[in-house]
Amino acid sequence: MTEIPATMTGAYLPGNGTVAYKEYDIPQPGPGEVLIRTKASTICGSDIRCIYCEHVGKGPEGYQPETIAGHEPCGEIVQCGPGMRRFGKGDRVIVYHISGCGMCNDCRRGYMISCTSDEYRKAYGWQRNGGMAPYLLAEEKDLVALPDALSYTDGAQVGCGFGTVYEGLEKIGISGNDAVLITGLGPVGLAAAMLCRALGASKIIGIEAVPDRIENAKTLVLRKDSGIKLFDAVLPAGPDNVAEVHALTGGMGCERVVECSAHPAARLTAVQAARKWGKIVLIGEGGLMSPDFAPSRDMIHDQKTLFGSWVTNIWRMEELVERLVRWNIHPSDLITHRFSLEKAPEAYELMHSGRCGKVAICFDGEV
Ligand SMILES: NC(=O)c1ccc[n+]([C@@H]2O[C@H](COP(=O)([O-])OP(=O)(O)OC[C@H]3O[C@@H](n4cnc5c(N)ncnc54)[C@H](O)[C@@H]3O)[C@@H](O)[C@H]2O)c1
Ligand SMILES: [Zn+2]
Ligand SMILES: [Zn+2]
Repeated sequence: MTEIPATMTGAYLPGNGTVAYKEYDIPQPGPGEVLIRTKASTICGSDIRCIYCEHVGKGPEGYQPETIAGHEPCGEIVQCGPGMRRFGKGDRVIVYHISGCGMCNDCRRGYMISCTSDEYRKAYGWQRNGGMAPYLLAEEKDLVALPDALSYTDGAQVGCGFGTVYEGLEKIGISGNDAVLITGLGPVGLAAAMLCRALGASKIIGIEAVPDRIENAKTLVLRKDSGIKLFDAVLPAGPDNVAEVHALTGGMGCERVVECSAHPAARLTAVQAARKWGKIVLIGEGGLMSPDFAPSRDMIHDQKTLFGSWVTNIWRMEELVERLVRWNIHPSDLITHRFSLEKAPEAYELMHSGRCGKVAICFDGEV
């Protein structure tokens, strides 16, 4: 086995649209902790919005300066602290990206994302070191086993993007009865399309503003060589979107809508293009609802239900991993660009530009 060095170079985000590097000590895992050799670490839209461009959120909720970035890490355990209960050296693991206190009600439900402890809630890549370095210290309780059938780049995306989407889809329920509208075709919207297709949605319509992303979405398939397209139609964002969705659904609208853009106009489209009795889930974060939203006209009189959904819980993440294997689908198929850690500035800049699908930083053989 290669010896673990004493220090490593990690990447952090100063908050001005750049990436910086620093030498970090490689920590020794304490009780209940593991040292992971990072294999893949993907970039989420939230990294761009909340950390890369500027540091949004202050105090314990905010990005702690010079914390190693990356909240979608996946890798192999190379060292264990004392008292391990389930995982061991050599295990391939996904990290649930927020470490919680384990004791509050939210943690007991598995939603460490909303842990209420100021002292113990720490997100990887945010308040504690994340995946943009060759090694990562994690707590055993935050780990999800990565099955052999999935690659490290598949697993990295389960961390935030796919887990978040799976949760949102479970809230609204997706089946072969449904035409689904997805607004915002960044990595999260694309993950929504892949999972909706796997869950049997009979029609999937996407709306996106960036031309490169529209073209990318049109090319995607459920699994390689399947010929099963993710989208039946992809529309450029615009003022006629509701009418266009109605035209594609016999004048009825979509039974289910997944909002992944956070844009006020797209949020209004999401609500208005839902069919009577339809269910809508808001996943895109930040910003406001369109001021033109009229609850009685747009929702109440059509008996629609609106959900908000924040990340997922750890048992559902485990369930998702099992389903990905059963369905034989690979989140890594949505990755359009892979970079080594030295090229992280290019990777973040590309993700910021929107001229890409999912962007991954990869280590060892994953590049
Ligand atoms: N709720 C959660 O738990 C959770 C978890 C992860 C990410 N997020 C959020 O989900 C969103 C999507 O994440 P991502 O990684 O795909 O980010 P992203 O920024 O790459 O994707 C957003 C997409 O929306 C598109 N868009 C902008 N205006 C639009 C419009 N009017 N109509 C249609 N599309 C439009 C953008 O061009 C972009 O492609 C982000 O807001 C992110 O912060 C939420
Ligand atoms: Zn994220
Ligand atoms: Zn907690």
